[in-house]
Amino acid sequence: MDKMMRKAQETGKQAAQKLKALPEQTKQAVKDLPDKSKALAQKTVKAATQMQRRTRLKLIVAVVAFVLVILIAGGIIGGRHLWYAKKNRAGLEPFGSEDITRSSAVPYIKTTLNDNGLNGEVVSYLEQDPYLVNIYEGYGFAKDYGSARGHNYTLEDVHKTLRPHALANCLTCKSADFTRLVNEEGVGVYTRDFEEVYQSLNLGISCYTCHGEEDPTREGNNLTVTHSYITKGLGENMSAIDPAILACGQCHIEYYFTPENKETMIPYSSVETMTPEAILAYYNEIGFSDWVQPSTGAQMLKAQHPEMETVMQGKHAGMLSCADCHMPIEQSYDGAIYHSHTLVSPLKNETLLASCAKCHEDTDMVNMVEGIQRRVTARETQVGNALSAFKDALASAVEKGETDEDTLSSARTLYREAQWFFDYCYVENSEGAHNSDLAFHCLDVAEQKINEGMAILSNEMTDDNI
Ligand code: HEC
Ligand code: HEC
Ligand code: HEC
Ligand code: HEC
Repeated sequence: MDKMMRKAQETGKQAAQKLKALPEQTKQAVKDLPDKSKALAQKTVKAATQMQRRTRLKLIVAVVAFVLVILIAGGIIGGRHLWYAKKNRAGLEPFGSEDITRSSAVPYIKTTLNDNGLNGEVVSYLEQDPYLVNIYEGYGFAKDYGSARGHNYTLEDVHKTLRPHALANCLTCKSADFTRLVNEEGVGVYTRDFEEVYQSLNLGISCYTCHGEEDPTREGNNLTVTHSYITKGLGENMSAIDPAILACGQCHIEYYFTPENKETMIPYSSVETMTPEAILAYYNEIGFSDWVQPSTGAQMLKAQHPEMETVMQGKHAGMLSCADCHMPIEQSYDGAIYHSHTLVSPLKNETLLASCAKCHEDTDMVNMVEGIQRRVTARETQVGNALSAFKDALASAVEKGETDEDTLSSARTLYREAQWFFDYCYVENSEGAHNSDLAFHCLDVAEQKINEGMAILSNEMTDDNI
């Protein structure tokens, strides 16, 4: 017990001494504080700086690595764009066709051809411009009519369209296999059953379409017209057209199916006869119509997509080909130089836009082209609605049965022709960019015919009233 007490006393004394020493120690500690905290602050700053340096270094390394990855991956997947854009920004002349490398470019050409699938959007023209449903009454286009998508979708789109397609001739512009079939078995293929032929096709638009059996890497002009109606229709006059226009013109044209054997054919035989006037005269001469409209009884025409015709009559004719404005010349990361086979709008491609400057100098091309398109589209809406009103007036006259046959017949002809000129502008895919004069001309002619038609119908009504 005593032992314990003594131990406790001892501990108590020690504690008391410690307690006495505490203020001294605290004082000393407080005295030391500035130095220590200074050191601590210095240490902290040093550590922070080191950390910052390390972080900054890490950040720099990360950014560099990221850019490298993008460059390398870009080089493989789409680096052509990066390299090429860089060249343009540096203000260097883009590559010329003399720089084209052929065989080494083929893998890139295949990739770029496949990239036509990137444009998969469709705008419904029928929703955008409801007057079309009225104008196209009685024809497939009143049921389904949308904007064009990339080449990869040709087979899918022709199959799923709500427009009726009984015969295989609808496959004319959709598949290299079909073109080959026509070339091997003759024009009888056009009248075979759509579905049966469709099921036998594998390829959409492919190398064969524009290069035929030729080795596309051959020097010189390596393009081949494989669509026989072009060779048949134009004959010798084909030589007046740049092959890089004809390649696209195999499909981007006005065509019709011959009444005798439903063969796909073009309605002209030379560059001079590629005008809406000459084509209409030809259709009138052979008594051709695409459909007879139920409510008006008019023998109607449906224009297709006369891009080659408008370009050949336009301001760039003899200067630029379709490829010059839609197929930028690019360079791959390993140096191959070639035409990209992804068909793009020149407004959405830096390389193509830069190439316009050769002649258009510092014009803002996007603004200039979109300005034309806005004016053309506004005028289309105006004339389209007028055409729709004319159609209603004609249909109503037909229904009432009080108008004499001669007047009805003249009004029907005017309606057929007004619709032809309107359509020739509306269905051309560039909205005036290829040839604004021709676009406005077509709409003016359409309007004039609408006014004439309305006048004879209303004269007739006034005559009746008197
Ligand atoms: C829609 C038509 C079209 C298709 C399809 C097409 N090409 Fe081309 N090709 C062209 C045009 C146009 C040119 C440019 C010719 C010119 O301006 O001289 C071209 C040029 C070329 C060249 C020459 C090098 C160059 O870039 O100018 C090669 C090689 C080539 N194509 C290979 C191919 C291969 C391989 C395929 C299939 C994977 C293919 N092409 C599919 C139209 C086409
Ligand atoms: C074998 C027929 C055929 C040939 C040849 C052809 N095209 Fe096309 N093109 C089409 C069809 C069909 C469409 C619409 C595809 C769809 O909507 O399913 C189209 C769509 C387009 C489009 C719109 C798609 C988009 O991405 O904006 C452009 C641009 C185009 N073609 C340019 C060209 C150019 C330039 C050439 C020549 C190098 C060419 N085409 C050759 C049939 C052809
Ligand atoms: C001077 C350059 C130029 C030439 C030559 C040219 N085009 Fe165009 N093309 C354009 C412009 C500009 C547009 C409008 C692009 C836009 O609206 O973004 C266009 C639009 C088109 C479109 C509609 C594209 C879409 O996405 O809706 C098609 C199809 C087309 N061109 C095909 C052709 C064909 C086929 C040829 C040759 C017969 C040709 N072009 C020649 C400049 C040109
Ligand atoms: C080789 C020279 C040349 C090049 C390159 C060129 N153009 Fe043109 N372009 C012309 C000429 C000449 C005119 C007519 C000018 C005029 O009548 O005032 C013109 C007119 C136009 C017009 C008005 C057409 C019309 O019918 O109203 C458009 C749009 C156009 N160019 C677009 C382009 C685009 C886009 C490019 C580049 C992809 C381009 N051009 C490249 C020479 C060229």
